[in-house]
Amino acid sequence: MTMIKRDPSFELKQYLSSNWANDDAFLTAVFNSLSISFPKGEKFFMNSVRAFKDEVNTEMSEAIRMFCIQEATHTREHIKYNKLLCELKGYDFEELESIFARKLEKSYSDKVDNKMRLAITTAMEHITASMGASILKGNLVKSDNPVADMWKWHSLEEVEHKAVAYDVYKAVNGSDRIMKIVMRYALIDMIHANTRVAIKMLRHDKQFWKLSTFQSMFKFFFSKKGALRMNYADYKLFFDKDFNPQRHGNDLDLTPWKEKFSSNEPILGK
Ligand SMILES: [Fe+2]
Ligand SMILES: [Fe+2]
Repeated sequence: MTMIKRDPSFELKQYLSSNWANDDAFLTAVFNSLSISFPKGEKFFMNSVRAFKDEVNTEMSEAIRMFCIQEATHTREHIKYNKLLCELKGYDFEELESIFARKLEKSYSDKVDNKMRLAITTAMEHITASMGASILKGNLVKSDNPVADMWKWHSLEEVEHKAVAYDVYKAVNGSDRIMKIVMRYALIDMIHANTRVAIKMLRHDKQFWKLSTFQSMFKFFFSKKGALRMNYADYKLFFDKDFNPQRHGNDLDLTPWKEKFSSNEPILGK
């Protein structure tokens, strides 16, 4: 899939202090929490893929370069998002980010080698691409505002570069067995850290003990139409014998999203 460099910007200020995702406090906190995880998470992804740039062919090394350009742009925009979010809501950024940072620290230890780090990235990239496809299909976020648009732009690029980490992992003879073991831990770790941060945000906003928050949380984790069960089939594909991200999710037409984000015009609110 073709990856291109885009340079969008989003006017977030008007919306970030509200429940911008479906007017749903829990879903909004889940997305805001994910945003907090990105700067350090995406740095980890870039480093783990870049570690192999001299061991692959020219075409793949160009794919690595484009992957890093896209991830670096996501990080740039999520840093702005996080700063504004914490200013508007009064969150302690360092405290929230440290929950994700502690999980990542384990992956930077001497016991984990470059190939294992790439396996973790391959698993995480499958999760972000599956979630991104779901967002673009309109399954998760129904709202139309610049914050939702920022997630759609990020989703588009996650789908575009969904196979890069996997292709590099295969090119350097990464083990399938290890990749699948890592996926189980990565998914559990991600859900655990993300839920902890989202709950901290909801408590801070005094939204946690509300019936509507519990209903939304229940739907998210357990309902057939909730984010977890809806995307479960996609996550499970990773464990298929012939899994290859390039072959999955191609029913999604990216054209409208490519057009929407082609101009690099700032995305403004209404
Ligand atoms: Fe990203
Ligand atoms: Fe990515």
